[in-house]
Amino acid sequence: MNPVNNPYTPGAGVPPPELAGRETILIHAENAIMRTKNRKAAKSLILLGLRGVGKTVLLNRIDQIAETVDCRTAIFEADPERTLPELLTPQLHRLLLQLDRRKRVSGEVRKAFGLLRGFANAFKVKFGDFEFGLSNEMVTGDLTIDLTDLMVAIGEAAKSRNTVAAIMIDEVQYLTGSGFGALIVALHKISQRQLPLLFFGAGLPQLAKLAGDAKTYAERLFDYLSIDRLDNESARVALIEPAKRESVTYGDDALEIILRETDGYPFFLQVWGSHIWEIASTSPITAKHAKDATKTAVQALDKGFFRIRLDRLTYRQQEYARAMASFGSSPAASTAVAKILGITVKQAAPIRDEVIKKGMAYSPRRGLVAFTVPKFDEFIKRNE
Ligand SMILES: Nc1ncnc2c1ncn2[C@@H]1O[C@H](COP(=O)(O)OP(=O)(O)OP(=O)(O)O)[C@@H](O)[C@H]1O
Ligand SMILES: [Mg+2]
Repeated sequence: MNPVNNPYTPGAGVPPPELAGRETILIHAENAIMRTKNRKAAKSLILLGLRGVGKTVLLNRIDQIAETVDCRTAIFEADPERTLPELLTPQLHRLLLQLDRRKRVSGEVRKAFGLLRGFANAFKVKFGDFEFGLSNEMVTGDLTIDLTDLMVAIGEAAKSRNTVAAIMIDEVQYLTGSGFGALIVALHKISQRQLPLLFFGAGLPQLAKLAGDAKTYAERLFDYLSIDRLDNESARVALIEPAKRESVTYGDDALEIILRETDGYPFFLQVWGSHIWEIASTSPITAKHAKDATKTAVQALDKGFFRIRLDRLTYRQQEYARAMASFGSSPAASTAVAKILGITVKQAAPIRDEVIKKGMAYSPRRGLVAFTVPKFDEFIKRNE
């Protein structure tokens, strides 16, 4: 097919041509925003899922929904190299400017600007001049206290403007040090005060445990939504609809093959769709096209997506991953992995922790460890 018309979008955070199977999640998010807007209680949301299931795409979509109903949003990705104040300051500054766009500066907005300026100073964030931060409000230098005060001030500023402030953070598992804990405390205060500020987070499945470890009440503070592979029906839609718009159809046997090979994982669906588009010269797409595309798609993933991730691990960590892979796609018991490596569980623990910290694995339950990258076990086996 003409590559210029290839509708598929394999990538990171690239909106798919058809956002299939996520209606319930989007409605959940929209309801939280609308309830907050109408001064009803609503919980902040955390989207949890493996690599490539579409968390970033959903977070961006929620951001768009929030903006269409006139909310003020701040959206960014956590980065293990940067502190929460560094990441938050410019975003909150932008949010406050938006709150200010139409009317004269209100007392609440001015206070929030002042607090943000103090916050940036206290945590040594280099940031340009604050337009309205004429005086530094009280800050203590304690992240939890100052972040709470700042978020409360922003919630009050949003309230004074009759709107909702939404803070969206992607890859939350990478928030360093006390950042995540401080954020949870601040959100707890916001919810107690019933202020119109919502948090939308996205990250790897270990995030639920990290939140629980930071504060036990986190479990009750958030709605955790699990973002998984698409069911067969939605996976079909994700493939068929974009092609249909280009007057291309799929044979049933071709679809069967793609669904089996991709397991319904959104990123893989885009990769397969894109490869098939390059291979097939006529519509409908056949089983032969699907089989040929499987070869080139797997090669491309092995050289890119999978290889890059394996290369991020040290030799010792790669050995750990190889031992995990021998258990296939199901979670492995840490004790069994250690046994394969011929070391004790205690010796294996720091290696496992590093693999988890690098975002390659997570612990679905105590004593178990699983890959965060779908089909990573198959890649390792192919390349042994
Ligand atoms: N519902 C969907 N239907 C079809 N394709 C989708 C869907 N959601 C996401 N995709 C596609 O899947 C790919 C991965 O999406 P995205 O980057 O949002 O995943 P992610 O969960 O954030 O991954 P990571 O954990 O690596 O950041 C993109 O190519 C995107 O276009
Ligand atoms: Mg992402």
